Amino acid sequence: KEAKLWGGRFEEGVTDAVERFTESISYDWQLYKYDIMGSKAHASMLASQGLITAGDRDIILEGLDQIERLIQEGKFEWRKDREDVHMNIEAALIERVGEPAKKLHTARSRNDQIVTDLRLWCRDAIDRILICIKQFQVSLVMLASEYFDLIVPGYTHLQRAQPVLLPHHLLSYVEQLERDAGRMVNCRERVNFCPLGACALAGTGLPIDRFQTAKDLKFTAPMKNSIDAVSDRDFVLEFLAANSIAAVHLSGIGEEWVLWASEEFGFLTPSDKVSTGSSIMPQKKNPDPMELVRGKSARVVGDLMTVLTLCKGLPQAYNRDLQEDKEPLFDSVKAILGMLEVCTEFAQNISFNSKRIQSSLPGGHPDATTLADYLVKKGVPFRTSHEIAGKSVALCVSKNCQLAELQLDDLKAFHPGIEADVYGYLGVENAVNKFISYGSTGSNQVKKQLEDWRIQLGIS
Ligand code: ARG
Repeated sequence: KEAKLWGGRFEEGVTDAVERFTESISYDWQLYKYDIMGSKAHASMLASQGLITAGDRDIILEGLDQIERLIQEGKFEWRKDREDVHMNIEAALIERVGEPAKKLHTARSRNDQIVTDLRLWCRDAIDRILICIKQFQVSLVMLASEYFDLIVPGYTHLQRAQPVLLPHHLLSYVEQLERDAGRMVNCRERVNFCPLGACALAGTGLPIDRFQTAKDLKFTAPMKNSIDAVSDRDFVLEFLAANSIAAVHLSGIGEEWVLWASEEFGFLTPSDKVSTGSSIMPQKKNPDPMELVRGKSARVVGDLMTVLTLCKGLPQAYNRDLQEDKEPLFDSVKAILGMLEVCTEFAQNISFNSKRIQSSLPGGHPDATTLADYLVKKGVPFRTSHEIAGKSVALCVSKNCQLAELQLDDLKAFHPGIEADVYGYLGVENAVNKFISYGSTGSNQVKKQLEDWRIQLGIS
């Protein structure tokens, strides 16, 4: 068995079970790009501080480049007996270039190394998520433009409430996604500080330049306290929390679209490209991707819970428990990226069944509030007009008709102030057109917002 890089004081090797139990290379190999990036910045800094020679630096940089290429080509052997990504790369570098590589770990610990890798990884992951959020927003805005005039029932308690424009509903998702993106951007600001040079926990007596490495790695600044730098995973928690909120938003969209695709609603039809079938029922066409968007939100929320629980009660500085932060972090990001991608494709591959929606629209008297508003305009106090509109609905229910189908005399019997112009308020289309308040579903409002979103998202 190969001697461990930390093996100086040990007389015996670890048992197989301990080796299997403590390794992290099976998943932290995914950090290799950032580990190499950090090592290169560190080696360059060591050379400019006179801690290693320029010659040694060049040998180290060249060796690291070769290793990176081998990894990318799938020709690098990840070894469990070398524990983690840091020691796999360092040991391989020593094997390749010899003595100079043994100087790389000067004024560095795996404790600052891992958290530097992780912050770099999170930064890139956030940037990828931001791109995917925007793509989904674009697909929703396109859909909203395509169906600009389509009125759909708006629901509260899943009961018919008031008619709304479909684009208004779709833009409500776009707004949520914008806040999700905002949370990512805020989180990225706090992620982007450099722990490198904090070493094990106390810093170092060697004359390193932490500002140089921070700048080289495009961090805002080095972290100010070496103990804090190696301790905290609050940036992971914040990222997982932002992911969780986004996932909960996406799960709501998933739920609505699954519902809307049902025979009962029949609002939308997903194309074959985004549907799957049944192994027993030949007629089936299921919206599985959106069900899984709903489903995968569970793991994203679970990943946050895992790391919260992991961090609770940990003493300051590095504790090995922290190795357990990576799998939930990787899992959460993989899930959210997949969810966003599939949501985008779903939005690009559904059609709304305008005829069917229109024919079912009047059901549930969604214009009743507009009748109440009409009476308010005639000077009737809202509580009274609510009562009158309610009685009118009750009459419709007994006659099995719509509000717009009631005779003027029937309506006048409820309130003498009702005149023929009431028919300009009744019916779903009239009702939608009456909305004028800022942010409402009135078509002028929605048109303006849709235009603003098209500009903001760069859609020509
Ligand atoms: N594999 C470890 C982790 O993921 C790296 C840091 C280990 N440091 C140590 N002193 N054992 O957290």
